[in-house]
Amino acid sequence: MCGIIGYVGGREAVPILIKGLEHLEYRGYDSAGIACLSPDCSGFFVCKEQGKIGELKARLNGVPTQANSGIGHTRWATHGAPSKTNAHPHLGQNGRVAVVHNGIIENYAELKSELKRKGCCFKSDTDTEVAAHLIESYYHGDLGGAMRRAAARIQGFFAFVAMAKAEPNRVCALKRSNPLVVGVGKGENFVASDVSALLPYTNKVMYLEDDEFVELTRECVNVSRLKDGKPVRKQIATVSWKAEEASKGDFPHFMLKEIFEQPAVLRRTLQTYVKKTGGIAFDTLDRKVKDHVKRTGKIFVVSCGTAYHAGLVGRYLFEAYARVPTEAHVSSEFRYSDPIISKNDTAVFITQSGETADTLAALREAKRKGARTLAIVNVAGSTIAREADAVVYTLAGPEIGVASTKAYLGQLLTLALFALYVGGLRKRLSQSAIRGFTREASKLPDKVREILGTSESVDSAAGALFTKGNFLFLGRGYNFPNALEGALKLKEISYAHAHGYAAGEMKHGPIALIDETQPVVCLVPKGTKTYTKMLSNMEEILARRGIIISIATKGDRAVQRLSRHVFWIPDTLEIFSPILTAVPLQLFAYKIATLNHRDVDQPRNLAKSVTVE
Ligand code: M6R
Repeated sequence: MCGIIGYVGGREAVPILIKGLEHLEYRGYDSAGIACLSPDCSGFFVCKEQGKIGELKARLNGVPTQANSGIGHTRWATHGAPSKTNAHPHLGQNGRVAVVHNGIIENYAELKSELKRKGCCFKSDTDTEVAAHLIESYYHGDLGGAMRRAAARIQGFFAFVAMAKAEPNRVCALKRSNPLVVGVGKGENFVASDVSALLPYTNKVMYLEDDEFVELTRECVNVSRLKDGKPVRKQIATVSWKAEEASKGDFPHFMLKEIFEQPAVLRRTLQTYVKKTGGIAFDTLDRKVKDHVKRTGKIFVVSCGTAYHAGLVGRYLFEAYARVPTEAHVSSEFRYSDPIISKNDTAVFITQSGETADTLAALREAKRKGARTLAIVNVAGSTIAREADAVVYTLAGPEIGVASTKAYLGQLLTLALFALYVGGLRKRLSQSAIRGFTREASKLPDKVREILGTSESVDSAAGALFTKGNFLFLGRGYNFPNALEGALKLKEISYAHAHGYAAGEMKHGPIALIDETQPVVCLVPKGTKTYTKMLSNMEEILARRGIIISIATKGDRAVQRLSRHVFWIPDTLEIFSPILTAVPLQLFAYKIATLNHRDVDQPRNLAKSVTVE
C-alpha cells in the first residue's frame, strides 16, 4: 500500500526522503516520487518515476535542490494505472500546493466535476489530484486551514501530507483511518506511514489518531483536532526496534533473514511470557480483562492471510486447552456477516502490521456489538493495538518481507501460550500441566535452528520441482492450517498455483488431480491424533502415482517409504508441531521462488500492509 514521508529540518531533504521511501518499499508499490521546496520559495522541485525507487534515484542523481523540506510517496495503484503521471506528489492547479496521499477518496468523481467546472485541469487519473486541487482552491496563505476545509469535503479514508510553496518550512498532515506517525527529532521533524521510515533518524514518535491534524516545523510539532483546531496533547513514545533490524544484513532477501531470525523470536516470546517457575504470565492484561476471559462464553478469532492461518490454529488451541467454544473468521467476511456476538464474548484479532483495513473494520464491528476485544499484534502503537481493549504483543521485530514468516511463528507460539494461560485461568489445566507444556516449548528455538541447519532436502526437492505450476498441500488437525499456509507462501512469492486442503477432504474432490505429474506436500508429524489417517491418505496418493513431499518427524521410516522427498523435523508435542512444520514450508516456497527468479521480498501486486478493504 502507499507509503508516505514528510521532512522539515536543517538537512538536505532529498536523501532523507529517498531513504525514508526505501524503508517503506516493503509495503508494496509501483511508482515513487518526491516534491521539495528550497528556502527561496521558487516553487516545488518535483521528481517522479514509475517502477522502483532506484529509477527515481537515478533521475535525481546530481540534481542540486538545496531543499530543507519535502514530501515523498510510494504508490500502490488504486485509481489510475501505475504510471509516472499518476505517481504522487500531485500539485494544485497553480503549483502552490503539493500533496501525497494514502487511502481512497470515495466522492472523488463528484469533487472532480465541481473542480473542473471551476477551471481546474487534471493531469492524472488519480483521486489524489482532486485533493491537491481542492486544498489549493481553499488556500489563502494558511495550509492548515485549507487542508481542514478540504478534509471536511472528502469522504473515504486517507492520510494526507502536504506543503505550500509560500510556506517552505512547514509540513502539514492529517489522517482518517490510514496510519501516520510523527518522528520527533532535534531541529528537525518527520511524518511517515510507519515507524520503519523514521528509524534511521529518530526513535521518538507520536502516533496520530483519526481526525487529527499535525503541523511540523523545524522546532515544533503541533497536533490539533481536525474539526475545530483544538490542540491535542500527545505522548511521545520510544520505539524499541533498531534501524539495523530493518535491514537485510548479509542475506540476499529479507524473507530469508526473517526465516533465520525465528529461533530468536521464539526465545524472546518465551522469555517474555513464561516465568522462571515454568508458569505463564501476560502482564499487559489488567484484572478486568483476565476476569472477562475467565468467564467468556465464546471466542471469535479474526484475521487475514497468514494471520488467519494462525487464527485457525488458535481455534483448535482455545477449544482443546481452555475449553471455550471458538470460531475462526477471515476479517473481510466477519465484518459483513452480521456476527452474533454478546457482551460475554471475546474477540481476538491477530495481525502483524496492526493496520490491516479488514481486520480493523472487524475490530470496530465487534466493539460496536459489545464484545471485549483483544489484539495479538506485532507493531507497537499500530491502530489495532491502540483501538483494542487489550493487547498481547508478538515479539517478531520488524518484518519487512511481504511474505509473513517470523511474525507467523511468533503468532503461533503466543497463541499456544495464551490458550494454555486461559486454560489455567479457567481451571481446565493444572499449573503442573502448564509447566509440562512450557518445558517442551523452551526447546522450540533449538529445534527450529536444527531445521534451518539441515535444509539440503528442501533444496533438492525445490530443484526437482521448481518448474511445476500446480501444488497440493495436505494436513490434518493442528497442521491443516499449515497446509493452507504452505500453499499461500508458495503462491504469493513463486506465482505457482497451490492449494491447501484438509487431507481427509482429498477423497471428496482433489484426488481427481492426482497423477504422476502432481506434487503433493503432506504434513505428517508423528505423535498427532491423525497420524495414521495421514499415512492412509498418502497411500491413496501413491496408488495414483502422485509425487509425495513430506514433512515428517526424524527417523519416521513409514513416511519415508511413501515419499519422494522428506523434510525432517524434530519431535515435539502436537500443539507445537505447526511451529516446526511451518519452517520447511517457508524454505520450500523461498527456494522455488528464487529458482524462478521472483522478486521474493516484493511479489507482484502485493502489499505488506493492506490498508484498503
Ligand atoms: O498485517 P497482517 O498480519 O494483518 O496481514 C495479514 C495479511 O495481509 C498477511 O498475512 C498476508 O497474507 C501475507 N502476505 C502473507 O504472507
